[in-house]
Parts: sequence; structure tokens; C-alpha cells
Amino acid sequence: MVEPVRFPDIPLYQGWGEPMRAEIEIRGLELIQGEIPAGLEGALYRVGADRQYPSGRTDDIFIDGEGQMHMFRFKDNQVDYVCRWVRTVRFERQRAAKRGLFGRYRNRYTNDPSVAGLSMGTANTSAMFHAGRLYALKEDDLPYELDPETLETRGQTDFDGALRDVVCLSAHPKVDPVTDELLTFSYQAKGDATRDICFFIFGPDRKLINKVWFEMPYAACVHDFAITDEWVVFPFFPLITDLEVVKKGGPYFQWHPDKEIHVALVPRYGSAKDIRWFRGPSGSAGHMMNAFREGSKIHLDLCFYEGNCFPFFPTPEGVHTDPVLPYLTRMTFDLESGSSSFERRRILENSCEMPRTDERYQGRPYRHGFIICDRKPDGSSSIGRFEPHTGKLDVWSPGPGDSVQEAVFAPRSPDSPEADGWLLVPVCRVSKMRSDLVILDARNLAAGPVATLKLPVRVRSTFHGTWVPEATLRSGRYAYSRAAS
Ligand SMILES: [Fe+2]
Repeated sequence: MVEPVRFPDIPLYQGWGEPMRAEIEIRGLELIQGEIPAGLEGALYRVGADRQYPSGRTDDIFIDGEGQMHMFRFKDNQVDYVCRWVRTVRFERQRAAKRGLFGRYRNRYTNDPSVAGLSMGTANTSAMFHAGRLYALKEDDLPYELDPETLETRGQTDFDGALRDVVCLSAHPKVDPVTDELLTFSYQAKGDATRDICFFIFGPDRKLINKVWFEMPYAACVHDFAITDEWVVFPFFPLITDLEVVKKGGPYFQWHPDKEIHVALVPRYGSAKDIRWFRGPSGSAGHMMNAFREGSKIHLDLCFYEGNCFPFFPTPEGVHTDPVLPYLTRMTFDLESGSSSFERRRILENSCEMPRTDERYQGRPYRHGFIICDRKPDGSSSIGRFEPHTGKLDVWSPGPGDSVQEAVFAPRSPDSPEADGWLLVPVCRVSKMRSDLVILDARNLAAGPVATLKLPVRVRSTFHGTWVPEATLRSGRYAYSRAAS
């Protein structure tokens, strides 16, 4: 006999956040407005978290929960929607036990003794398509590979041994769709609270091109990084793991407002001896928009919080700091100044998160960035296109009470100009408890959707995604081009 399933009566699991717990397959979503653009064929993959079983705790946080891969498959003028659980070790063990076995977020010392020593990765953060393979990623575990058409889990992978020295891989890789290189990293790479970090570049054939091991100043949370053509940017914010606290069942990260930010500039094709370090006053960020080189300067644009970006992680004294809003901020590092400090200035006065670009311009000077902006007290939010060179913001709002999830850009063609294409945006129709997928002209959001596809279900929570064109699904290569910069 096992206990019936009962979720705790907490806001996280109420309203839109009520667990869906379902695998879904809908062939031919209803087109309720506009037309699907001709030539838009391929797959939008998005990964999010849901709850397979209650954890038995009341301090669950929204970034925890079992991973699901969501696919919007564009083909023959229709869009299919498929959602499948990623069959992680954790998922399979809980399924067999018919109950939750894993406790506090990333804290293995709070797990059921029956799963001691097993991976607790959820594969719940993002989707990556590289060298013909589809992955679901979570930063504290190795990638899971899935079938790109059926979403069946093929299993966990260490990239044919290339990842054998690390226990995890980032959920914010950068796949360069022009060179088909994969740039990624592992942090706390030797296990909980270790300061080891390793940067990797893989070629279009998934062969390792370079790897750089180095040490972080503290056991930070390194959720994202940024790239340029010559340097890779690793900011370290003072959300820090203390193994003794974790062993006692405490939070995996603690916020240290008294500690500085450290930034490592790592040579993209070089070695650890050439790393350049910078430091500055406290603050934090989860997500980077982009970075690029301008002469001896490296600019990093990120959604910066003048405080703790993850306020559900308390200070060492147990204090949950007041939430602060994120603003698009440019940090500038001058490699020739001889100084270890850096400039920091706000470049957009509207608060924003979940920044994306036309992926062909990752690491290059860029003229269009896509964001979720203007989140209001009623929970509504808008999608924006920001032009860093003019300061202009182009916005589309789904309506009162409704909100948007992260936008993903799909170019009109592999060689179309920057941002010439479509923005694919899941919309939470909160009052109707269902979702839409809207397709916007990426250069003119204010004009409203060119097409709206209705889902009769909620796409409850997806964090990050990627667009894979039809030709790329077949060939395994993006083979995009970008204008010379
Ligand atoms: Fe993220």
C-alpha cells in the first residue's frame, strides 16, 4: 500500500501553477487567428518543470520539479504539440515507488534513503539541439538525449566520454548556428560545493575542440555565461553553496550581499594561464542577453539585479531579502586599462528577464534583443524587442492578466538579415486556464501576432527553448549565415 497523492496547499501549486502531471499529444493545433507563415517548418522545443509526485515538503520552489520536453512541430501548414516527461533516473525511481523520493532543491541529504547516491537531476531547464541530437538539460546533471520526433528519452550521455571528468553540464549552452560549434561549461564540476569549473567547445561533429579548467573564487551558482568571438565571459555572483549547510538539510545556495562579483574572461581557444579577472560591487543575474568585443573592450549585456536574483535562497542568517527588479545592464571590461574594475550602466529602464537574441548574433555586435518585460502586479507581462543602439523598445502585450513565456527567434531563412523572421511565444491565458502559441513578426511586435494557435491545455511552465528548422532536423547542421560585422 502506498499513500494517496496529496499536494500541499501552497500558492506554488495553485491557479496556473497547479501541477499538470500529464503527457500530451495534440495533432493539428487550432489556428484561431492569422496564417502560419509560409516556409516556417521545423520544431520549437521547450523544457519546463512539472511535478510528478509531491515532494512531501512545503518549501518547494518553482525551478524544481521533473523535466518535460514540449515540442511544437511545424509541418505542412499545421502545428502539432507534444509534451513528454524526460525519463530521468529520478523520474523512473519515483514512478516505481509511486511517490516522491527527492527532497529539497538540489539537496541530496534530504532525499529518501532508498535513492542515496543516485543522481537527482531533473532535466527541467532547457532544450539543446546540436550535431543532430536533442537534449534536455539541467545544470546539476549530465544531459539527457531524446528522440527529436517522438521525444522518447534515449538516456543520459557523457558525449562519448568527453564529459567523464565532470558531474554536470550547464543548461545555458551557446550553439553557434553559423559554425555549428557548441560552447558550454560545467560548474561545481567535481560535485556539490566544489569550486571547479570547466569550459568546453565542441565542433559540428561533437568532437572536443578546447577545454579550460579553472577555479571559481567561491562555490557560486553559475546559471548562465556569455561568449564573444575571442573571449568567454563567466560572471560569478555571491550565491554560494556551503556544504555544511547543505548536509544539515539547508538551502543549496545562500546569498552573500557583502561579497563582490568576480568575472573571468576566458580565452575561447586558449588556456587557463591567459584568463583575465575583474571584480565589482555585489549584485546578481540569472541570464545574459549577449556579449561582444569592441576593440580592447568586452561588453556584457545581462538582466542585472541590484541584489539577489533568486530571493528564495536566503542569507547565511536565514533572511529572505526583498525581491528586486532586473534591468538590462551593460558591464564593460577593458583588457588594456590595467584595472581589475569594470563599468556598469543600465541600458533599459523597463525591467526585463529571459533575454534572447537572433542566435546568429550571439557573441557579436547585435541590434535586436528579445525580452519578457513590464511584469505587472496582476501577473501579466509583455514581450519586447530592444534595440541597444537606439534604446527603442517595441512591445506586444497579450492582454490583462495574461502572461508570456520566453520568446524564441526563428529566422525567415538561414541567411536572412538579423531579426528578420518570427518570434515564437507561448502565452498563458490565465483566466481561461489554457495556453496559446503566438507567432509574431520579430521586427514588428507592436503589430500583433501574425498567427495564434490555441492549446486546449496549459503549457504550465517552460523556462527555455530552441528553434530547429526542418533542414537542420534532417542534416544535423544549422548552416546559418550572418552579416559581416
Ligand atoms: Fe535559465
